[in-house]
Amino acid sequence: MLQLAASSILGLTVPHAPHAPPRCLAASRAASPVCVDDKSEVEEYFNNEGFNRWNRIYSEDGEVNAVQLDIRTGHGQTVDKILKWVDSDGRESLSDGTWCDAGCGVGSLAIPLAQRGATVVASDIAGAMASEAERRAADLGLSERASFSTSDLESLSGEYDTVSCIDVMIHYPPEKMAGMVGHLGGIAKERLILSFAPDTWYYRALKRFGELFPGPSKTTRAYLHTEEAVLKALSEAGFAPSRTEMTGTNFYFSRLIEAVRQ
Ligand SMILES: C[S@@+](CC[C@H](N)C(=O)[O-])C[C@H]1O[C@@H](n2cnc3c(N)ncnc32)[C@H](O)[C@@H]1O
Repeated sequence: MLQLAASSILGLTVPHAPHAPPRCLAASRAASPVCVDDKSEVEEYFNNEGFNRWNRIYSEDGEVNAVQLDIRTGHGQTVDKILKWVDSDGRESLSDGTWCDAGCGVGSLAIPLAQRGATVVASDIAGAMASEAERRAADLGLSERASFSTSDLESLSGEYDTVSCIDVMIHYPPEKMAGMVGHLGGIAKERLILSFAPDTWYYRALKRFGELFPGPSKTTRAYLHTEEAVLKALSEAGFAPSRTEMTGTNFYFSRLIEAVRQ
């Protein structure tokens, strides 16, 4: 419990070095080492163990432990804050525009958006997550409003009025974050909505403390980002912040930013 409390941000394990290089494993004496990059690791994780874990966390009735319940609550608050923005803007602005949800997971945001009348094009690097989102949307009769596919967000193309990317940046090392924001900015006509685990002295201290207690299982590496760096990346992509929110429970920390094209 202490380990989880100390080293989990959004429920994922934080890296031991702030700029962790790809993990390289000695294949054999003769062969060169095999290096696993973050994206392959994330894809593999969310198609297997991560799918089982996060599908439960992102379900109202999935069986979860106390920490996972706290993360479910925190994540639900982030989604609710976005929906509150959407509702306060009025339903017309939603039904008139197109919405791309990149790294959609099991559809926690895409589905309520479709229920509110949005046309949502959602995707995830992990086919297991995207398929579960598609199944959930179909069960609710939303297949016409929301489509789901498997894609790395940096391979997405087209143009959408709004592009959202919620709790995905945690999988991006700081040196790759601006490229990711730049790509999403390139497909967003008007608005970007992003969230990330903030790199503050408090969460850093929490992370260092957690490193004293080696955990039994490592999940994927997870990265914090400074708000300053994210705002700079948004500005370079041509976007300025318009609304922000912070959600912090015991085990879930997420800064939410809405930015509009300048
Ligand atoms: C913590 S979950 C958040 C899911 C969803 N955005 C939500 O808030 O419910 C992170 C998701 O990001 C996806 N992901 C990570 N890197 C990605 C990438 N490069 N392209 C697309 N999806 C990615 C993972 O597969 C996973 O489903």
